[in-house]
Amino acid sequence: MSIDSTASQRGLFIVFEGGDGAGKSTQVAMTRQWLENRGARVATTREPGGTQIGEKLRSLVLEHGHGDIDSRTEALIYAAARAAHVQQLIAPKLAEGTHVICDRFVDSSLAYQGMGRSLGFSAVSAINDFATTGLKPDATIILDISAADGRARRIAASGGVEDSDRLEAEPDDFHERIRGAFLELAAKDPRRYLVVDATGSVEQLQQEITTHLAGLL
Ligand code: TMP
Repeated sequence: MSIDSTASQRGLFIVFEGGDGAGKSTQVAMTRQWLENRGARVATTREPGGTQIGEKLRSLVLEHGHGDIDSRTEALIYAAARAAHVQQLIAPKLAEGTHVICDRFVDSSLAYQGMGRSLGFSAVSAINDFATTGLKPDATIILDISAADGRARRIAASGGVEDSDRLEAEPDDFHERIRGAFLELAAKDPRRYLVVDATGSVEQLQQEITTHLAGLL
């Protein structure tokens, strides 16, 4: 589609995925700026979150202190937040011709709950097909990072202290499984995915990302 979207043209749905500490939020903000500089309307959002109920579910699932949350419950909370997100924000924005850049989407559930929590891709896909009514990203950018590098970056970003949420607090082998899952998903559909090495410079990553997106616009 043309970058000069009119209201009658659907916006592009662009998703950033990757392990914790990969630097997604920086690239989301830069990509938004890049699109806006070209005159496009852009909305940025994140998962879990993006709606009032989604932000409440985010606190529930990420903060410590809500007692045990078993893997199926965890997967359903993420899917419930996603259902609200698609219905209330993502689908309406795309329909009005706004590009939507989302920090995480279904692939995070496939990686973290499907692979990390061993629920399997097919069960997690099934609840997410229901939640999203089948909405798929037009482009998914995976910021690839090792568990050790991701942890080091999170610690550096929080001033040298390890201040982890429920998922970040999982051990490195959990985060390595997540990394493997993202790479596996990307390998299945190379046309829709771009994998970039998240240890590259911010500018270098942005260059790779915008070159890829320019090809879709
Ligand atoms: P964030 O820190 O990148 O905002 O993501 C929140 C955390 O939630 C992160 O550790 C990944 C995790 N997560 C899942 O486990 N499943 C999901 O479906 C999503 C969207 C995030």
